[in-house]
Amino acid sequence: MTPYVADPVYLNGQFLPLDQAGVSPLDRGYLYGDGVYELIPVYSRRAFRIDEHLARLQATLNGIQLANPLTVDDWKTVISKLIDAAPWEDQSIYLQVTRGADNKRDHAFPPASVSPGVFAFASPLVTTSAEVRATGVAAITVPDLRWSRCDLKVISLLANILARQQAVDQGCAEALLIRDGYLKEGAASNIFIVRDGVLLAPPKTQLMLPGITYDIILELAHTYGQALEVREITEAELRSADEVWMTSSTKEVLAITTLDGQPVGHGENAGRPGPLGEQMWRWYQDFKNSIMRKG
Ligand code: PDD
Repeated sequence: MTPYVADPVYLNGQFLPLDQAGVSPLDRGYLYGDGVYELIPVYSRRAFRIDEHLARLQATLNGIQLANPLTVDDWKTVISKLIDAAPWEDQSIYLQVTRGADNKRDHAFPPASVSPGVFAFASPLVTTSAEVRATGVAAITVPDLRWSRCDLKVISLLANILARQQAVDQGCAEALLIRDGYLKEGAASNIFIVRDGVLLAPPKTQLMLPGITYDIILELAHTYGQALEVREITEAELRSADEVWMTSSTKEVLAITTLDGQPVGHGENAGRPGPLGEQMWRWYQDFKNSIMRKG
C-alpha cells in the first residue's frame, strides 16, 4: 500500500521518520488550533507557485502575529529536501506553523522564549480522475458559520470541517458557503460561476481565502480575453448560473454539476460540465505544463 505521508517528515529543525516525530500535547496547535498552514502542489518534482504560497504563509503569520520561524530560503530548502526524498513525481507539500508549547494553558500568547512548532511533509498529489471530471461533482449550499478572517489560512478549520462533512453525508463533494445572501467560497475551495458567457468571481475580502489557483484563473481569463467580473455573487445568481466550478491546488478546476440536488446549467448542458469550465481546465493544464513539465 502506498503510504500517504513520505518519510522523512520535517519537525522543528529535523528530518525524521514519521513514527519518530512527536510533539508536546501542550502545543498550542493541539490545545487551541493556534497555527497556520499551506498546501503546495508539486508537479514533476517542482513546487508550483512556491513564492506565492510562501507569501500567503507570511501574510497569515502576520495576521495572527506570529513571527515566521524560517526564512524563504530555509523554507525552500526544507521543501526541496522533502520533495527529493519522497517517491512520487507529483506531490503535495503540507507546511504548518503553530505557536508552540508553553508549560501551561493560557489563551494569551506564550512568552517569546517559546519556539513555534514547525511541521512539514510530502504526500502523493491526489488529482481528479478523468471520469469524475467528465461528469462533474455534486455540491450543497450551507450557511457560512466561520469567523471574520477567512482570508487567513489557519489550522482551526472546524466550521469548514462541519460544512464539508454535511456535503459528504449527502453524497456530495463540496459545500458552498453562503453569508448574508452572497456566495463566498467552498469549504476547501474557491468558487467561480459563469453567466451569459461572463466568468464571475467573488472578490478577495476578509471573508474568503485568497486562493493561489483563484489568482491563476483570473490571470488566464486576462491572457485569453475571457470576459470576467470580480464582484459579489448573490445566492440567486449562483442558483441560476450556467456553470459553477470549484478551484484549489488539488482540485485544479472542477465542474459542480448538481447543486442542492438540482442540475446546474440550462438546456442540453444542464447537469453536465460546461464549455467554459472545460476550456479553463485546458488553459490551466497548458499553463502548468509550460512551466512545470518541461526540461
Ligand atoms: N484548501 N478556500 C479554502 C477555504 C481552502 O481551504 C482552499 C484550499 C482554497 C483554495 O486555495 P488554493 O487555490 O490556494 O489551494 C480556497 C487546501 C487545498 C486545503 O485545505 O487542503
